[in-house]
Amino acid sequence: MPDDVFTAPLKKPEHVGDDWLEPKQTIYDSEDDAIWDDLFKRQMEMLPGRAATAFMEGTEKLDLGRGGVPEFGKLSEELDKLTGWSVVPVPMLIPDHVFFWHLANRRFPAGNFIRTRETFDYIQEPDVFHDVFGHVPMLTDPVYADYMQEYGKAGWKAMRYNRLKALGSLYWYTVEFGLIEEKPGDVRAYGAGILSGPTEVVYSVEAESPNRIMLNVDRVMRTDYVISDLQPTYFVISSFEDLYRQTVERDFDKLYKSLGPGFTYANTAVIDVDYVVNRGSLEYTLRGGRGSGAKPV
Ligand SMILES: [Fe+2]
Repeated sequence: MPDDVFTAPLKKPEHVGDDWLEPKQTIYDSEDDAIWDDLFKRQMEMLPGRAATAFMEGTEKLDLGRGGVPEFGKLSEELDKLTGWSVVPVPMLIPDHVFFWHLANRRFPAGNFIRTRETFDYIQEPDVFHDVFGHVPMLTDPVYADYMQEYGKAGWKAMRYNRLKALGSLYWYTVEFGLIEEKPGDVRAYGAGILSGPTEVVYSVEAESPNRIMLNVDRVMRTDYVISDLQPTYFVISSFEDLYRQTVERDFDKLYKSLGPGFTYANTAVIDVDYVVNRGSLEYTLRGGRGSGAKPV
């Protein structure tokens, strides 16, 4: 291996096949392709003016609306030309250290399976639509692409310090649920968790309920998050350069040594040092969120 390739001590679990790191992409039938097309159409109606410009441009550069589930080989060829990334199929969730290994080598692991009509609106496990439509367009942005690689490398340090929860929070509030203020007053979504579903696209950028707070890496890594409902708080970056800088320039050794065992801040908290874009009413969360049938206002 050349020196610039990030390596990790990986051992194949006994019960899986030799292609465990890189299985073949699933063959999709016409109903799977139709589900992709319908999801694509629905999202593209919601996204203009709400999704980050880089994301919208990414969907065009990669022509994700060409019809049916994209073929990863072709997608990787195109992405490789733009930022040196590729998309590799994985069977559902993979172990943390394998996930970090992929990212550190500019490989984005994407779930193979696609949701059904029954789970069309909401699915908790990441399927191929979430992973490819939600994540891959942003990888066409050179600075964001570098951030993702750095995140993968950071994963190894977090594992050594047993601080995966803290680093996971950074992923959650940026890669999955991040917002960007492109111009003063013009806040848009770049997080895949937001952009791959219909409700949070509107809620995250327009609703009164959630807090919107400028990103501070130290603060975010001390903040709890909710995985099965709309977020009570979003963190906003001013540019992808800002996100990259804040992350690579942070001394994570020092940070991890200073952290307590759990999260310091609730996901609803607004604290003194926050630079607040929107102090939310938290109405949706206080009414009980998803389970209560509360409106995402
Ligand atoms: Fe995701």
